[in-house]
Amino acid sequence: MLVRVRSSAVLGVAAVGIDVEVEALQGMPRVELVGLATSAVQEAKVRVQAAVRNLGVDLPEKRIVVNLAPADLRKEGSSFDLPIAVALLAACKRLPPEALEGFHFAGELALSGEVKPIRGALAQAIEARRAGATALVVPEANALEAAVVEGLRVHPARHLGEVVAWMNGVAEPPTRAPAAPQLAPDGALDLADVAGQEHARRALEVAAAGGHNLLLFGPPGSGKTMLARRLPGILPPFTFEEALEATVVHSVAGLTRDRGLLAERPFRSPHHSVSDAGLVGGSNIPRPGEVSLAHHGVLFLDELPEFRRHVLDALRQPAEDGEVCIVRATRAVRYPAQFMLVAAMNPCPCGWYGDARRACRCTLHELAVYRRRISGPLLDRIDLHVDVPAVPCAALPSAGSTEPSAAVRARVLAARERQAERAGPGGPRVNARLKGAALRRACPLPPEGRRLLAEAVEKLGLSARAHDRILRVARTVADLEGADRIAVAHLAEAVQYRALDRRA
Ligand SMILES: Nc1ncnc2c1ncn2[C@@H]1O[C@H](COP(=O)(O)OP(=O)(O)O)[C@@H](O)[C@H]1O
Ligand SMILES: [Mg+2]
Ligand SMILES: [Zn+2]
Repeated sequence: MLVRVRSSAVLGVAAVGIDVEVEALQGMPRVELVGLATSAVQEAKVRVQAAVRNLGVDLPEKRIVVNLAPADLRKEGSSFDLPIAVALLAACKRLPPEALEGFHFAGELALSGEVKPIRGALAQAIEARRAGATALVVPEANALEAAVVEGLRVHPARHLGEVVAWMNGVAEPPTRAPAAPQLAPDGALDLADVAGQEHARRALEVAAAGGHNLLLFGPPGSGKTMLARRLPGILPPFTFEEALEATVVHSVAGLTRDRGLLAERPFRSPHHSVSDAGLVGGSNIPRPGEVSLAHHGVLFLDELPEFRRHVLDALRQPAEDGEVCIVRATRAVRYPAQFMLVAAMNPCPCGWYGDARRACRCTLHELAVYRRRISGPLLDRIDLHVDVPAVPCAALPSAGSTEPSAAVRARVLAARERQAERAGPGGPRVNARLKGAALRRACPLPPEGRRLLAEAVEKLGLSARAHDRILRVARTVADLEGADRIAVAHLAEAVQYRALDRRA
């Protein structure tokens, strides 16, 4: 008798349906696994046989063939253990095949029969729903993320024996209800904690309003990290669609154990020793990198010049395209990567260049080498360069008297609404993504404005790219003010955010 159990395989951030077919044939007693299973999936054979034996079930003295269909799709990962075990048990008449109707299964098995967590359970739940399943059995640690999908009963499983009991109608399977998104326990970080730094706070607001990339530079301890961490709190709150997309990426990376939908925009700050695979994704089995884990959120590169050059170069393509494509021998995998880039750096290797409190010990040569590490194409892609000088100690106690994040976020939302209205359906939702003709249409300049911009380009020796960046930022400054047209004051503010071009 042929038994078929439904499951799925995760490819990138989507899952595709997989049928696990089991048939017991006459022949040498053994288990064969076919259907383009990689060596990692071949190991399932060993785990499943041990788990089944630990239930006290002896496999029949037959040749048992397990096929993963469609066969032309390479299978990876360990989530086929559970569906294979269920199919095997049904083929040995330990559970009735009719009971499997409408069910999908995903889970890894320990030799003991315990069900272990997997990656990508949310993508598999979405696929199960799409394929018309009414129930999904997943490892207990993955049940909350799967429960995000509506119209699907999610049954958290701890042990194979439990699943067999459910299918035989001996026990009632528990169902996991979706949980409300949980905010971080320590509460969101608030801008009210930052004393002074009017200039940097304003730049943060402009960046959030227009989706602009941002570079903070200043001496150690001046509050660069503190400011960057408060950016998610002034960005528009997640829409459900955005939260779902971001959570799927985190799920594929195995970061969603015992967690449902992400409640706030991600803030990722990889260490500067990160590899290019760690930053943009890849390695042997494709995995999302930091740029994708920051999807719909913030990627923070602290101590920017310490990152290896080829790693920063790898960042350019995803920053431009909003996605990463990892090409492997047999196929290409895509991960979304729409993030805001925030970078921070000291003004010089010793950190004290331009600070009144301590003398800089760097030579001109050291300074030039340091600046050159981040110069060029990457710097060109950052709209706002922001000076963050140290706040004198005397000013620090006044923290709390400054504006809270909620007030800033309200202005950011209003500015975003203006941008969306101007772009219309399908247009770029933030000014940072305006290009070419659309950019020029959105940014007509008064004659004095055109003169000012031409002068700045001439004096600072700006590239055409930098010219466009000034236009976009000026558009955002005008949107924050609720102005339809860009005025000279808006342009002047945008020009001063090219501080590093000026110094170069
Ligand atoms: N403007 C500020 N208001 C309140 N606290 C500040 C401010 N600037 C710095 N601090 C304090 O100094 C610490 C170090 O700041 P940090 O953001 O780590 O500096 P940086 O990243 O520039 O080296 C912060 O955790 C905070 O306690
Ligand atoms: Mg820091
Ligand atoms: Zn120095």
